[in-house]
Amino acid sequence: MADTNMVVLTTQDSGILARFLTNPAASHPGATSTTQPAHQRRPNKSPALRARRLATLASLPSAAAAMVSAEVGIDYVLWTEAEVSARVGEVAAELAADLRALPEPAVVVGVATGAFLFLADLVRRVDVRLAVDFVRVESYGAGTESSGKPRITADLKVDVAGKHVVVVEDIVDTGNTLSHLIAHLEKKGASSISVCTFLDKPARRKVSVQLVGDGKFYRGFECPDYFVVGYGLDYAELYRNLPYVGVLKPEMYKKDSSN
Ligand code: IMP
Ligand code: MG
Repeated sequence: MADTNMVVLTTQDSGILARFLTNPAASHPGATSTTQPAHQRRPNKSPALRARRLATLASLPSAAAAMVSAEVGIDYVLWTEAEVSARVGEVAAELAADLRALPEPAVVVGVATGAFLFLADLVRRVDVRLAVDFVRVESYGAGTESSGKPRITADLKVDVAGKHVVVVEDIVDTGNTLSHLIAHLEKKGASSISVCTFLDKPARRKVSVQLVGDGKFYRGFECPDYFVVGYGLDYAELYRNLPYVGVLKPEMYKKDSSN
């Protein structure tokens, strides 16, 4: 049986939610302020919207509903496994067309740990010769707010000098991590740098991301301004294995996580 506290958003719902979230105060005077820590900002839960989402849940194949409801810490599903898969296929097709036109194989650089599922699903659908490597860039600690000072804690094995690099990220939030990493790859002599991020939260951007050479920006979904988990994204290293993307129930956050 589905957990009746669980709601699933269709793509259309996600669009509606994203619009509420872009300007929550305009849509709902009682809505929370965007100056709150990300995990305290909640999606709107009007009875009508909630009823529609529950109807969506009821219409899911039972295996999908059971999979979602088994994860009791999730309040809202923003993108289901099927929606993620379909979108990753579209991004992979676009990337493959661009990489095919290059004279030499590109180096796809995943940002560990968050990009591991997205990278694995993406490159399996890019039918072009390429190299894969990982870097580790850390700035978050165990909370939901970035320290703003990323550090490269594990570097590349592959030489990227003179190569086209595609950085694969789970999410671009303030842009600090990516800017730091792009500067690092440029120093190593990458001839051009593209970015392929699963999620993009433009509302939170503090640093504009400067691509290098003929680099392009690819993204899966525009993410509303909430702290999300699943499909690689974590809270305190948990929830990365969820095959969908969701918003955690407030009680799942540790008391001191907003510091
Ligand atoms: P930025 O440096 O602020 O752009 O943050 C980028 C990194 O923060 C991402 O690679 C994620 O690891 C993490 N991050 C940002 N937003 C979220 C979120 O909503 N959920 C989980 N991790 C996030
Ligand atoms: Mg990351």
